[in-house]
Amino acid sequence: MAARTGTACAVQLEAVTRTYGEVTALKEVSWAFPRGGFTAVMGPSGSGKSTFLHCASGLDRPTSGTVRIGGVDLGALREAKRTRLRRERIGFVFQAFNLIPTMSVADNITLPLRLAGREADPARLAGIVRRVGLSDRAAHRPSELSGGQQQRAAIARALITEPEVVFADEPTGALDPRTAREVLRLLREAVDAAGQTVVLVTHDPVAASWADSVVFLSGGRIVDELASPTAAEVSRRWESL
Ligand SMILES: Nc1ncnc2c1ncn2[C@@H]1O[C@H](COP(=O)(O)OP(=O)(O)OP(=O)(O)O)[C@@H](O)[C@H]1O
Ligand SMILES: [Mg+2]
Repeated sequence: MAARTGTACAVQLEAVTRTYGEVTALKEVSWAFPRGGFTAVMGPSGSGKSTFLHCASGLDRPTSGTVRIGGVDLGALREAKRTRLRRERIGFVFQAFNLIPTMSVADNITLPLRLAGREADPARLAGIVRRVGLSDRAAHRPSELSGGQQQRAAIARALITEPEVVFADEPTGALDPRTAREVLRLLREAVDAAGQTVVLVTHDPVAASWADSVVFLSGGRIVDELASPTAAEVSRRWESL
């Protein structure tokens, strides 16, 4: 669990603690996500995975400790600047999709651009919609899509701004194996073709094996790391948690 430092890191956490009343969801977690790396985060339910992602992405503020994105200390930024940095540099795929029901798929996907005051280039939108296999669904509302299609729309929305870092909280949890593979391929491509950094929470050792390394959380702490994971080795480590 060697700490990486400097500009090779896309996101860096130092002694990050997050408490909710009596509950300590994260305990002094220090971790650096390498730029252009694909990291899976695993751990039992309640071990702090979502809290870890929310703190690392600037969606939530730690109770104590430091989070840096691209070297910028989030704690030193005012709310508006933090929001802007998140919009410009971060993509987030929520476990529950969080698509806006009254908007078309295309409008959902381009929403982060509009929020950032940027134009949605039609060719780029068409390209990303094609990549996620939703070309014939782009004009539909989310309620007219299957769960897998909604998740792919949520991934397109996270990728549309070409963020430096993409956080995905169990994006394949509700998907059939084939759709899950498509989603993982998209995330892998974001790393390999576009040099983006991906952090993926998953319960699935096969999904984790798509990553360059796996970080294991237990009781709000990082307890293990596995580089170049295979599904079998991930399962073995998982069982020993
Ligand atoms: N908003 C909140 N208020 C109070 N407690 C919370 C809140 N969010 C999380 N917790 C608690 O913090 C701990 C870690 O929660 P977290 O959601 O990070 O776990 P997780 O590893 O993502 O679990 P799961 O696999 O079930 O999604 C849990 O004990 C949870 O009950
Ligand atoms: Mg969670």
